[in-house]
Amino acid sequence: MPELIRADSASHRRDAAIDVDQFLCDGFALREQLADFLELTPAVLEQRLGASCSDLAALHPGAVDFDPLRVGAFYEETVGTGHLLELAAWHLGSADYIADTLRLQARCAVGQVLDFGGGIGSHALAAAALPAVEQVWFVDLNPHNRAFVAERAARFGLSERLQVCRDLHDPSLPSRFDTVVCLDVLEHLPDPAAQLVDFAARMEPGATALLNWYFFKGFQGEYPFHFDEPALVERFFETLQDRFLEVFHPFLITTRAYRLRPAGPR
Ligand SMILES: C[S@@+](CC[C@H](N)C(=O)[O-])C[C@H]1O[C@@H](n2cnc3c(N)ncnc32)[C@H](O)[C@@H]1O
Repeated sequence: MPELIRADSASHRRDAAIDVDQFLCDGFALREQLADFLELTPAVLEQRLGASCSDLAALHPGAVDFDPLRVGAFYEETVGTGHLLELAAWHLGSADYIADTLRLQARCAVGQVLDFGGGIGSHALAAAALPAVEQVWFVDLNPHNRAFVAERAARFGLSERLQVCRDLHDPSLPSRFDTVVCLDVLEHLPDPAAQLVDFAARMEPGATALLNWYFFKGFQGEYPFHFDEPALVERFFETLQDRFLEVFHPFLITTRAYRLRPAGPR
């Protein structure tokens, strides 16, 4: 087992290891960090977490009127801190599932790691604490998410290993990554196939991509912001199968691992 990096910040989290067991214990101090960041009492935080999924859905204008060209502004401006709460409720409530994605990441992540659409930073923090990882690049359109994750990294003494950026055009980003993590993001993008092409162009030849998707608005319509048009989904799978080769892993989760397909005839 690789040696785990322990948090060395001056904060009271000094003794916390950033590993799967710690995630299962407290989501990396998620409740207390979120309450501090949002300036909420613990009781109000619990109320807001309970309502977070419907609160986020209520911000969405609805599938019919939603202009795909405005989707970036939805995540960057309209959502505000809503996604922080919704993602926190999900990571705390489905901790076993998220823990398996962290276990998978711990097996695969090396070198320069891109966490695209990284949300509340559970994966970015965990990756930054892995000895085989040099640097984590957390990319997210939402400024509140970036500020929260930067603050979390500082609390765990991981600021140098975890940089936050708005988008892939940020000049501080490396031109290529050894690991791409993009979890529960592709269904939020108006052109997920184009995103796969962008990832492929930024991956080192031996790089691994960890990807999942959920092109579905939910059985009760609880995810109105997910794209689900059949043509979009078909283009996504055509591109995935054209550019990427799946690598088996033993975890029973929706996240898949991929390498780039070698160029040339098959
Ligand atoms: C459902 S959350 C997933 C968060 C995280 N990956 C996880 O698994 O918990 C989707 C995230 O993608 C971000 N996002 C949406 N569109 C984006 C884009 N075009 N570029 C970067 N981030 C984006 C949102 O702000 C949000 O944090």
